[in-house]
Amino acid sequence: METIKIGLVGLGTVGSGVLQMLTQNQAKISNITGRQLDVKTIVVRDINKPRNVSTDNIMLTDDLNQIINDPEIKIVVEVMGGIHPAKEVITALLNAKKHVVTANKDLIASAGEELAKIAHDNQCDLVYEASVAGGIPILRTIVNSFAADQIMEVKGIVNGTTNYILTQMQHRGWGYQEALKKAQELGFAESDPTNDVAGIDAAYKMIILSQFSFGVHLSIDDMKIIGIQDIQLEDVKQADSFGYTIKLLGIARRINNGIFAEVAPVLVAKDHPLATINNENNAVMVTGSAVGETLFYGPGAGGLPTANSVLSDIVSVTKNIVLGTTGNSFNNYQHETNLVTPED
Ligand code: NDP
Ligand code: HSE
Repeated sequence: METIKIGLVGLGTVGSGVLQMLTQNQAKISNITGRQLDVKTIVVRDINKPRNVSTDNIMLTDDLNQIINDPEIKIVVEVMGGIHPAKEVITALLNAKKHVVTANKDLIASAGEELAKIAHDNQCDLVYEASVAGGIPILRTIVNSFAADQIMEVKGIVNGTTNYILTQMQHRGWGYQEALKKAQELGFAESDPTNDVAGIDAAYKMIILSQFSFGVHLSIDDMKIIGIQDIQLEDVKQADSFGYTIKLLGIARRINNGIFAEVAPVLVAKDHPLATINNENNAVMVTGSAVGETLFYGPGAGGLPTANSVLSDIVSVTKNIVLGTTGNSFNNYQHETNLVTPED
């Protein structure tokens, strides 16, 4: 069987999950794709850091050129995070004709269209299922299963860290700081959790969901964004006593000829399905004009759930390589809708 060599950029929470899953599920992946997938090289910041996953027979380096200049490596997984230098890294990888799989919502929400164009020009795939709602396969579902319907609204809980914090405050009486610290220890939060708690991470995900759902490119400045930093234990208890749960919701919907989008903590009645989504789990409600309301639920953060989404992308890129159908990621960037800002 032919082998496809893979590069990883990043070996933290998600990168370790990807390596573990690829190793454990090698046989199944080979059966499905007709190719053996081997991780050859991993780029990290600090090669001397202890790792909780085996890197035997893999080159661990801090030099990206070990991947860029290696013609054997066809697919690269970027799980380093952040906008810079991740943008430069992905640009260089695409220009070196590597297919890229990423979990980086900050970067895709900010520069996805530009990078998809570079991918297209190089006949490469650029895919990012893991960038929205961790383990929930929501982007592929929107592309494939809503292809013929008109999506009217997409909303839900799309940040695992804040949902974990709010859940611990409501059900365990933990303080905000204690719950945030635990979310960081469990690997749900970003390396700097500011974007999580300020609603920016959820906003990035709503930007990507809006692109897929409505064919419109929003920017952070187009959205009203309120985080959970100012929510006190007392607020959560009061809401609970009145029959409500506080959830950080992202909402994007068609209004008139445009899109309205925001992220904010919302009082959700306890008998609403979104009120029952606890811990780091996420849920995305997609309403289509033909199908009506649908709900997709699952882990929104964490190494293995997110790795599953990355692996689904690796498998799909591999199938495209085998079939000679790579280079179509730019199709998600057709613009069909005018933009309406919160002020409108
Ligand atoms: P971590 O902080 O756990 O890991 C980041 C990894 O990237 C580390 O291995 C680090 O190296 C490496 N790295 C960072 N900067 C550089 C650099 N300049 N050069 C080379 N290597 C670098 O992050 P996560 O695994 O949690 O997240 C990775 C990505 O996945 C982010 O985009 C995040 O938003 C996204 N994501 C995360 C989820 C989660 O649950 N954690 C869920 C969904 C998406 P070293 O180990 O040496 O420090
Ligand atoms: N920090 C993110 C979250 C990781 O908590 O949802 C998943 O994107």
